[in-house]
Amino acid sequence: MNFIDLAAQRDQIRPQIEAAMARVLNTCGFIMGPEVTNFEKSLATFAGAKHALACANGTDALLIPLRAWNIGPGDAVFVPSFTFVASAEVAPLVGASPVFVDVLPDTYNMDPASLEAAILDVKKQGKLKPRAIIAVDLFGQPADYPAISAIAKKHGLKLIADQAQGFGCTLNGKQPLDWADVATASFFPAKPLGCYGDGGAILTNDDSLAGLIDSIRIHGKASIEDMAAKKYDNDPRYLNMRIGVNSRLDALQAAILSEKLKIYPDELTKRDAIAQRYNAGLGPHVRRVPTVIAGGFSNWAQYTIESEQDVYSVYPTAPGGLPVTEDIRNRVMSLPMHPYLSEADQALVIDAVRSFNG
Ligand SMILES: Cc1ncc(COP(=O)(O)O)c(C=O)c1O
Repeated sequence: MNFIDLAAQRDQIRPQIEAAMARVLNTCGFIMGPEVTNFEKSLATFAGAKHALACANGTDALLIPLRAWNIGPGDAVFVPSFTFVASAEVAPLVGASPVFVDVLPDTYNMDPASLEAAILDVKKQGKLKPRAIIAVDLFGQPADYPAISAIAKKHGLKLIADQAQGFGCTLNGKQPLDWADVATASFFPAKPLGCYGDGGAILTNDDSLAGLIDSIRIHGKASIEDMAAKKYDNDPRYLNMRIGVNSRLDALQAAILSEKLKIYPDELTKRDAIAQRYNAGLGPHVRRVPTVIAGGFSNWAQYTIESEQDVYSVYPTAPGGLPVTEDIRNRVMSLPMHPYLSEADQALVIDAVRSFNG
């Protein structure tokens, strides 16, 4: 049994995927172009976002908005201590410092009380300037956005919803972007919405931020606003306004993702049904089955994640340390989870876990 069975999904939609790839081969439009634009439109519609900007991976999707906001040396970026390393990695990549915030013992997502304590502590110490919060939808379920966004607003901080794992999750029927300045996605193959290589996306409802992000992802090319200000009407790629990066989603991946996005709503329903079966079969037998925040819908991405790597031990934490993270990191374990997990395999997993829990 596979932990995540990419072949099962591929076999379901193989003709559509092959046709999509052939489209790109036939046109030789390998970078950006209509496949990427069409995918961005569908993605924005799915996520209820005004703008969806595809990029090279989920890490760049976090990095680029930090660059757009000029976050850098002397700045503090608040991140949960229990996450995949990329959520924290992007802070030192722009020269800023991650400040680690503890998580809640039930949902494993960022603890708003620890967040507020960390912000106040950073302000009191006066060495770093609080600038942004990266909330993570860990294992696929939404963070406590109402509480986190209220804290972000109160302290004048930008809020990124790192949906690399949780793309497709909702809270009270709303998207994380409804509370955040930016939401990000990763299309790494094992992610619930995965491509056949690396890929990512940045979602925002802010027109001028979208222009900046579009510029930064393509070597700092001129945005529409830049072109108007400079009265420049040639190809914007040849007017470089700022230091950017090369972070494009390639057209093959966009074509594949367009097909996968069509079946994603159905896959989310399937994942949820499997999770409910795991919950029912394991609830009485294990210490804890996943707790989803009230009103939350999870995409049930499943990962076994370790955080707090030694290289990050030099960075600040919320006052009092990270007791919840320290405690749960030794205990979590993820189970096989993908939309095509057969009922027989679900039963096998449930029996196996029950047996080693006595
Ligand atoms: C929470 C989280 N953030 C960011 C990333 C980075 O995504 P990518 O691997 O596409 O760069 C990942 C995934 O690997 C992740 O799980």
